[in-house]
Amino acid sequence: MKKMIAANWKMYKTRREAVQTTAGIITNILGKRLEDREFVIFAPFTALQSCADVLNAEASGSRLFLGAQDVYPAGEGAFTGEISPVMLLDCSCAWVLAGHSERRHLLGESDEFIGKKTAFALESGLNVVLCIGETLVERESGQLERVLSGQMSAGLAAVPKDIKPSRLVFAYEPVWAIGTGKVAGSEEIMEAHALVRRLIKNFFPLQYAHMRILYGGSVKPDNAGQLIKLDNVDGLLVGGASMEAESFSRIALA
Ligand code: 13P
Repeated sequence: MKKMIAANWKMYKTRREAVQTTAGIITNILGKRLEDREFVIFAPFTALQSCADVLNAEASGSRLFLGAQDVYPAGEGAFTGEISPVMLLDCSCAWVLAGHSERRHLLGESDEFIGKKTAFALESGLNVVLCIGETLVERESGQLERVLSGQMSAGLAAVPKDIKPSRLVFAYEPVWAIGTGKVAGSEEIMEAHALVRRLIKNFFPLQYAHMRILYGGSVKPDNAGQLIKLDNVDGLLVGGASMEAESFSRIALA
């Protein structure tokens, strides 16, 4: 199972900035012997094609992939402002995020809607990183298991049981650790990831051991090396520290 190190650029970067950072990442990491790792850049929609052009020109395809941060669960139609899986595939995207906490909490996406996106994106040929995570209030009131279990049940409701395990990745991102500088402690991460592994087993009893669980939330070059070694941590999803090629590359090589 290859570890996945992913950059989520959120609503940052013009096309020019995205191209520069992508080129920097290629230069820094692709020459390295890291056969057990793969990398994904989740760029904003407007920069996807520009990033794809750089990736294709550098023939970096088998190790560094392009992803989108969101998708609408329909092939096409009268959905003003939305983007379909077909459009993302057309921009050379291989991956898409579903259920990022900023979409759940700032944009009000429901667990059920995220489930529709997950299933439709997979069916359309995109690979999915399904993001889950609890708020501080939920954690402190003992609701970790209830919250993660609810997000997973709804998120996976329509996903076929025989999905190829490499195509569906989970990202545990505690909301209180995102963009706050407060990385979760090793014990908290291992406990949550073990729980996610048990929940995955309920849905995919045959493949659960081969499905990746990423950690996200204040990952930095200084803590990445320690985080990536924790039990059941199969990769990292990085926000703020992924914006600069230098800092993302240090995490990718950690
Ligand atoms: P930060 O790394 O900025 O905490 O963001 C994490 C995140 O939301 C990645 O999807």
